[in-house]
Amino acid sequence: MIDGKRILLIIAGGIAAYRSLDVIRRLRERGADVRCVLTKGGAQFVTPLSVAALSENKVYQDLFSLTDEAEMGHIRLSREADLVVVCPASADLLGKMANGLADDLASTALLATDKPVMVCPTMNVMMWQHPATQANMLTLEARGVLRVGPGAGNLACGEVGTGRLAEVMDIVAAVEGYFAEEASPKPLAGRHAIVTSGPTWEAIDPVRYIANRSSGKQGHAIAAALAKLGARTTLVSGTTNMPDPAGVDVVRIESARQMYDACHAALPADIAVCAAAVADWRVDLDTDKKIKKSADGPPPLPLVENPDILASLGQLAANARPRLIVGFAAETGNVVEYARAKLGRKGCNWIVANDVSPGTGTFGGDDNTVHLVSADAVEEWPRMRKDEVAGRLADRIAAALAGAAE
Ligand code: CTP
Repeated sequence: MIDGKRILLIIAGGIAAYRSLDVIRRLRERGADVRCVLTKGGAQFVTPLSVAALSENKVYQDLFSLTDEAEMGHIRLSREADLVVVCPASADLLGKMANGLADDLASTALLATDKPVMVCPTMNVMMWQHPATQANMLTLEARGVLRVGPGAGNLACGEVGTGRLAEVMDIVAAVEGYFAEEASPKPLAGRHAIVTSGPTWEAIDPVRYIANRSSGKQGHAIAAALAKLGARTTLVSGTTNMPDPAGVDVVRIESARQMYDACHAALPADIAVCAAAVADWRVDLDTDKKIKKSADGPPPLPLVENPDILASLGQLAANARPRLIVGFAAETGNVVEYARAKLGRKGCNWIVANDVSPGTGTFGGDDNTVHLVSADAVEEWPRMRKDEVAGRLADRIAAALAGAAE
C-alpha cells in the first residue's frame, strides 16, 4: 500500500526521537522511500549516521548548507515527498508550524511544502496540556494537518499523563491509512461546490456594524468535508476566527451583498450549501460617515432587506441552478414545520434544520442536533460533532448526485 511512496520524515528533538529509527525501518520494510530531516534538537538524541543507515538516504540537517542546498534545495525536498511525517513533533516545532516560522531546515520545509503533513507529538504532559500547545494543535488540525497520538502513560520525564509518542506500529498504520484513503474513490471529483459560512457584518458607519451570531464552525466543516470527497470547493465566508480548511478556495467577505456577489461570481456549481448566518437587513444610511453622538438621543437606524442568497440560487434557471441546493434553518421551535415551509419559499432541495434553543449549545459550540428535511422525507440525526454532521451531509450529497440522472 505504501510501496514506492516517498516520505519526508522530520525528526525533531525529544527523548522519543530514538523511536523514529524504528519508524524508518518499518516504513522501509513496506517499500516506502524515506528521506529524513534531522533538527538540531533531534541530532542530540539520534545520530545522522543511524538515520542515514536505516533510511539508506542522505540525511538533511542544515538550511544553509551549500552541499545540501546544491544537491536538493529545501523547496524540492518538501515537494518531492508524497507525505511529510514529523516524528517526533516537539512543542517547539508545532509552535513554529502553527505560526509560520521558518528558521531552520525542518520548519522551512514544513512551510514550503504543498504536501499533506502528519505530526506525531510527544512532550511532557504539562507542555501538551498548555493552552498554547493546544491552540497550536487546533490551528494545525483545522488546516488539515493529520495527528497521531500522543498516548497516555509514563513519560520519560518521570511524570504520568498524555504526551507519549504514539506506538511505532500505530504511526505506520496511520501512514498506511492516509495512502489508503487517498487512493479511495472521490465521489465528488469533477464537481464544484459553493459553501457559505460565518456571519455577515452590515455597516452602520465606518466603525459600527450589526451582525448575526455565527462561529463558522459548521459551514467551514462542510466545505472541508466536500473537498475531502473530491469536490472543488469555494467557501464564501464572513468574518470568523476559523482557519481556512485545507484544499478549499476561500473568498472572504463582510456584508450580505458581498456574499451574494461572491456566490454568483463562483457559479457555475453543482452543489450549494448556504450555512452562513446572513443578516436579513442592512442599514439604509450613508455608511461612509461616522454617526456622532448628539443631544437628540440615539439615531434612528432605517433598515432595508438584504438579498436572499439561498433563494437567489434556488431561483436560477434550470441550466444555471446548482443541481443540489442545501439551506440551513436555525429555529427555536417547530423545527421541522418551519423547515418544510422554508424549502418551498427558498427553492432549495434540502434544509438542514437545527434547534438553537438556549441550552442546546449549538451557537459557538462543537455539537449540533439537526434534521435533514427534503420535500418528501425528514431524517432526525442524533446529536453529533459539527464535523460529523458535515461528513454525513457530504456523504448524502455525494449519494444524491450519484443517484441523480445526468
Ligand atoms: N440565507 C441567505 N441569505 C439571506 C438570508 C438567509 O442565503 N439573506 C440563508 C441562510 O444561509 C440559511 C437560510 O437562508 O441557509 C436561513 O434562512 P433564514 O434566515 O432562517 O430564513 P428566514 O426565512 O429569514 O427565517 P425566518 O423564518 O426565521 O424569518
